[in-house]
Amino acid sequence: MAGGGIFQDGGSGSHLNIAAMKKLVVLSGAGMSAESGLRTFREMGGLWEEYDVYEVASPGGWQSDRSLVLRFYNERRKQLLEAEPNAGHLALVELEKNFEVWIVTQNIDDLHERAGSSNILHLHGELRKARSTADPSLVYDIEGWKLEEGDLCEKGSQLRPHVVWFGEAVPAIEEAARIVSTAEIFVIIGTSMNVYPAAGLINYVPDAAPIYIIDPKEISLPGHPRISVIQKNAGEGVRLLMEELRNA
Ligand code: APR
Repeated sequence: MAGGGIFQDGGSGSHLNIAAMKKLVVLSGAGMSAESGLRTFREMGGLWEEYDVYEVASPGGWQSDRSLVLRFYNERRKQLLEAEPNAGHLALVELEKNFEVWIVTQNIDDLHERAGSSNILHLHGELRKARSTADPSLVYDIEGWKLEEGDLCEKGSQLRPHVVWFGEAVPAIEEAARIVSTAEIFVIIGTSMNVYPAAGLINYVPDAAPIYIIDPKEISLPGHPRISVIQKNAGEGVRLLMEELRNA
């Protein structure tokens, strides 16, 4: 591998030379967790086919029917507690043997954490956390899967899912852009690149950094000619990427 890092064969026990490792930044989306049994949003059978996004994932929806919103996220949280990281999540952890891996995820699940990834930034919040409606800096872990009417913060205001809804700002976007702007390799996994500002992060990738996209479907990204497409599911796709990087 030219220019960076000592390729670890996973057993030799020699120390990891982090400084010499290339920085590999991943932008992941719902497809990353599809093989764990969690539904994506815009595909056939996706969540947004069954639910009106503005009813369950917007400030307006919260105003008009809190219990519907709480029920929607409780259901998803219940499914998440029954799900496990998949081969794709685990392969990203394995990549840390040879790369300084940073994961910028649109996913609100905790499967990257549960797989053991070291550097994770959630752009759209975290499903297993709740936050105060009066003071967004008050964030709490949710025990189990239920968040209900009457669950209050220490200031006495109703708790809401710690999730970024449509129409709301994405507080972590600057940190994400900073991480992406230092990528030496950029990998897009399981996102339709439809939602901004997350999809715009590709514009922060340095020109010298190769870009890979892993998705079973064709994702068009006009204006980015030097993208290598791995048209596979995340599990198989990250493995193929590891091979490709090994032989690079
Ligand atoms: N492996 C990799 N990719 C997959 C897999 C898989 N096993 N299965 C499906 N995909 C791909 C689909 O082809 C699609 O391109 O994952 C992508 C999922 O796209 P979306 O459903 O649009 O999800 P995402 O891009 O993450 O949505 C972005 O929109 O709804 C909001 O806040 C929500 O974070 C979410 C954001």
